[in-house]
Amino acid sequence: ILAAMRIVVDPAAIPALPALQQSSRILVPTMGALHEGHLELIRRARTLAGPNGEVAVSIFVNPIQFDRPDDLAAYPRPLEQDLEKCRAEGVDLVFTPEASSIFHPDRSTAVLESSLSKTLCGATRPGHFDGVCTIVLKLFNLLQPTAAVFGEKDYQQLAIIRRMVRDLNVPVEIIAAPTVRESDGLAMSSRNTRLNPTQRADAPRIRQALLSASKESSPEAILATARAAIESSENRIDYLELVDAETLQPVEDLSCPTLLATAVFYGDVRLIDNHSIRPC
Ligand code: PAJ
Repeated sequence: ILAAMRIVVDPAAIPALPALQQSSRILVPTMGALHEGHLELIRRARTLAGPNGEVAVSIFVNPIQFDRPDDLAAYPRPLEQDLEKCRAEGVDLVFTPEASSIFHPDRSTAVLESSLSKTLCGATRPGHFDGVCTIVLKLFNLLQPTAAVFGEKDYQQLAIIRRMVRDLNVPVEIIAAPTVRESDGLAMSSRNTRLNPTQRADAPRIRQALLSASKESSPEAILATARAAIESSENRIDYLELVDAETLQPVEDLSCPTLLATAVFYGDVRLIDNHSIRPC
């Protein structure tokens, strides 16, 4: 028998985990507009939680991680569809607070990450990852999960959350889930629906470029091959970097695990993808 999914809006009404059971609560933090990528994270959480554990999903469009007000205003919020998808995946608890109940007008404390957030997406979005860390830590404190699942699609976000949890002794296990892709390889994203048909047909070249460039044997060759293969008349590369998979700093050789990561503009739609390269 399936228990009804609880929907909690008031932070003060979050139910505590039953203390006696050795139970787990696995959190999947999201901003909603759920697609197959999110649902895979939820399924992963469902499997890990088992029949006695809880799966919690947070749906909150976090204002402090947006750098442009128009971007925040335009973010899709299909709450009813999202709740239906959560129900279908057997989610136990959805936390969908109002911004006003999460952020005090005179708040003056935040999380600051000063190393991993300086490259890749962080270089052009100052403050973005501090906003992500701050909301994720608040969600951890509110929901008290035993573990939380994050997607490798946002590799830098995952690395920064891992660093925060290590540096601040946050008692939450961080679980990584692989990137879910369309059949042509394009990484799933709520932004894909904003591509016009020509752009959509062009975008799979991003993934193909990262894969073929990874076969080159020097950082220079990898970057040159990837750049040439990504560039088209439809797009503009925001960044293309080969970084240490742990420190996210640019590498000079391929002696340690590296990450080939890119952000590409199609019009005003910015797509990201990455591919891990292991030393052979
Ligand atoms: P959001 O963009 O909604 O993503 C929620 C989670 O889904 C993230 O862990 C992200 O990496 C994962 N995800 C998105 N697309 C994916 C795909 N194609 N394959 C696998 N996983 C995918 O990331 C955020 O929200 C926010 O920054 C958040 C962590 C919720 C803090 O506000």
